[in-house]
Amino acid sequence: MWEQEIDINQVVEIRTKTTTYLGVGAINKMTDIADVLAQKGIKKTVIVTGKGSHIKSGAWEVVKKALDEKEIDYILYSKITPNPTADHVDEAAEMAKEFGATAVIAIGGGSPIDAGKSVAVLLAYPDKTARELCEFKFPVEKAVPIIAINLTHGTGTEVDRFAVITIPEKDFKPALAFDCLYPLYSIDDPALMTKLPPDQTSYVSIDAVNHVIEAATTKLGNPFAITLAKETIAVIAKYLPIARQNPSDLTARYYLLYASMIAGTAFDNGLLHLTHALEHPLSGLKPDLAHGLGLGIILPAVVKQIYPAKGKILADILSPIVPGLKGSPDEVPKVYEELKKWLKEAGIKECLSEEGFSAADVDKLIKLAFETPSLSSLLSIAPVEATEAVIREIYMDSM
Ligand SMILES: [Fe+2]
Repeated sequence: MWEQEIDINQVVEIRTKTTTYLGVGAINKMTDIADVLAQKGIKKTVIVTGKGSHIKSGAWEVVKKALDEKEIDYILYSKITPNPTADHVDEAAEMAKEFGATAVIAIGGGSPIDAGKSVAVLLAYPDKTARELCEFKFPVEKAVPIIAINLTHGTGTEVDRFAVITIPEKDFKPALAFDCLYPLYSIDDPALMTKLPPDQTSYVSIDAVNHVIEAATTKLGNPFAITLAKETIAVIAKYLPIARQNPSDLTARYYLLYASMIAGTAFDNGLLHLTHALEHPLSGLKPDLAHGLGLGIILPAVVKQIYPAKGKILADILSPIVPGLKGSPDEVPKVYEELKKWLKEAGIKECLSEEGFSAADVDKLIKLAFETPSLSSLLSIAPVEATEAVIREIYMDSM
């Protein structure tokens, strides 16, 4: 393969709608980014992070220095948890408004970056709340500039127009999708990710695998999404076991990060359907469930449902995991079993019951899938009709 000819220490610019710096040491591009912010007249910014990964990863020291050098003042909001809530977003936005921030720097995995994106919208619409944003109560056309410093290789949020926020009292976990949510700049630096433990390493990579399986098979699936899907799965199948064994392997981290980034671009183009629409109710109901783990558990049951409709595409993109497929419907049991086996080897649990779910939860999960704002639009582009019976079968099959 050609990977050996790529110098992972050379920071390269990848341009989608976002300009992303990819490579070992990409965090040092913060100096250039701070310069651009200063040229835009930005004097104050809010930094949105989780509790400690911005420090543990080493990103914070570099960001702080770059902002100090350009005399950009900052306020830190560091309370974002996995599955961030509308309350976190409101609290951070209030703090940022009071401070006078006119840009957002988000440092973290999907949760801090998605929260940061939402804060950026509320700074542009100061009289609105996070709940109004997450329930699509007003047209969203603008946000203050967003800088995303990515600390996991899974969500793709650093290159896409999505953000996921939880409304806890309703168990809603809607996905926001607005053009103004593209970060202005993103940093994808594999050296910031070497402290991700093996389980989390798997969960985030399995998130990316789901992004492409869905993006390649929606009703909006297109050659671009399919090409990116094939590459994503090949790269993850090769490098995930290496990163799980040796978390500090920078080449493995580089390629897993590259895979998650192109997966983000894939679903920015092909969108998502069943796995995400049915996982959001799971982690909406049990916020401690890691997004990628929930996706991984239900993926075989989803593929079982969609394989007859999209066999040729799935046979091609899944070939690094399940070789020898032709795309015919009678291969469903084989794909299902082999996928389960691969996921188990990748550290994904087999059943929702291992995460505290039971058959008694299924009615509530189905209701959430249909009622959570935005999820019904994902269901509407699934390659098979997402009826209540199909959804029930997926949940029960995964139990
Ligand atoms: Fe995801």
